[in-house]
Amino acid sequence: MAAQDGPKRLYIETYGCQMNVYDSERMRDVLKPLGYAPADKPDDADLVVLNTCHIREKATEKVYSEIGRLRVHKERRAGEGKATSIVIAGCVAQAEGEEIMARAPAVDLVVGPQAYHKLPELIARAARKTGERLAADFTAQEKFDALPARAPDGVTAFLSIQEGCDKFCTFCVVPYTRGAEYSRPMAAILEEARSLAGQGVREITLLGQNVNAYHGGGDFAALLEALARVEGVERLRYTTSHPVEMTDTLIALHGDEPKLMPYLHLPVQSGSDRVLKAMNRKHDGGFYRDIIGRLRAARPDIALSTDFIVGFPGETEKDFEASLQLVRDVGFASAYSFKYSPRPGTPAAAMMGQVDEAVKSERLARLQALLSEQQRAFNTAQIGRTLPVLVTGQGRKPGQAYGRSPYLQAVHFDDAQARPGEIASVRISAASQNSLSGARVSCATEAA
Ligand code: SAH
Ligand code: SF4
Ligand code: F3S
Repeated sequence: MAAQDGPKRLYIETYGCQMNVYDSERMRDVLKPLGYAPADKPDDADLVVLNTCHIREKATEKVYSEIGRLRVHKERRAGEGKATSIVIAGCVAQAEGEEIMARAPAVDLVVGPQAYHKLPELIARAARKTGERLAADFTAQEKFDALPARAPDGVTAFLSIQEGCDKFCTFCVVPYTRGAEYSRPMAAILEEARSLAGQGVREITLLGQNVNAYHGGGDFAALLEALARVEGVERLRYTTSHPVEMTDTLIALHGDEPKLMPYLHLPVQSGSDRVLKAMNRKHDGGFYRDIIGRLRAARPDIALSTDFIVGFPGETEKDFEASLQLVRDVGFASAYSFKYSPRPGTPAAAMMGQVDEAVKSERLARLQALLSEQQRAFNTAQIGRTLPVLVTGQGRKPGQAYGRSPYLQAVHFDDAQARPGEIASVRISAASQNSLSGARVSCATEAA
């Protein structure tokens, strides 16, 4: 570890999903007592953590190229008499720990997602060059129990309620990198929410790979109801959820609980029943449409978001057109779409009928064109409406404030006095692909 004077500096680079964003924040919390101040770039850091993602091949390859760049920093700093420790965390660490150790001697420590509470000890051990550079075998429960209190730095926060996944979709590495599904006890989640609210957090986004499968002493709807009663929490969101876990009570809650924001990310992956079956998604297109219908009946203005994979093994042009049709039928406010990427050890990687890269690219472009059109239409439809905007900070220009609509859109509006945490009524006058802008119409804070 670095032995020079002055505060030690920590740089964490985060890839992948919100789970990793949350984990990176928790790693900062764990390392704070060791005297690590944040660094803006890896060049100035004594300790660099790469929090990695294994979901697609590109994400994984990025890790190895980034390690190559960090090795150069490490050697340059060594020439200046400064030590640099490189830690690889996250899902690639969990899945390919041994390989990283073999391929990248510049790496000091490889640590899986369940061992972050042990970071100080592991880093100290790595510095003593004891050769124990791998730490992948802890449980999610041990980690959550041992992490210190949180210190959020804004009015919105993620709160992890679950780890792992038991669904085993045939394309996905998450059940292997994050392990079996574990739900945190409700009391611990409520305590974390109260602490966040006490520190000024107004909007909490609950995180997990299948948050609606939550079962930590009550079901997911019961957890949401309890969280809605936490003083200071004005807005609740959750991501990601699985269609087969959308219970009647949860759907009804979208209509009954005003703190639950009218936005839902509900991945569908494909519109073809044949492909959905091969993916082991456990439902068909009709089931998904039915859930959307019931959600809209409960909360007519709910905005929907989803994930798609194109070019899954065996996907024909007809299957792909079923995905386009589902998009037209449902109408999404936003969406993520990906080319299928074969992942080592997953069933789909060994399936017959792998689709040509050029076909995947062409399908992705067609799907994304349709999804972008829907996103623009959704944003444009807000023009003329007055929306309750949670102020999160300053806008790009002086005198401008910035915040979030109930539908998770970024909103800019003119108001030099707006304070983070208040909910401003903003009349929307313009919309673009990714944001809205408008003017404040009242000074009174009102609930969403
Ligand atoms: N738990 C969530 C999603 C987790 S991964 C769910 O069940 O929906 C986020 C998204 O990455 C997935 O929804 C899927 O669209 C995409 N994804 C996962 N594995 C992939 C793969 N092998 N190739 C391409 N995209 C993939
Ligand atoms: Fe992966 Fe499926 Fe689990 Fe989502 S539900 S994390 S896609 S295995
Ligand atoms: Fe990636 Fe791991 Fe999240 S594989 S998507 S960082 S759970």
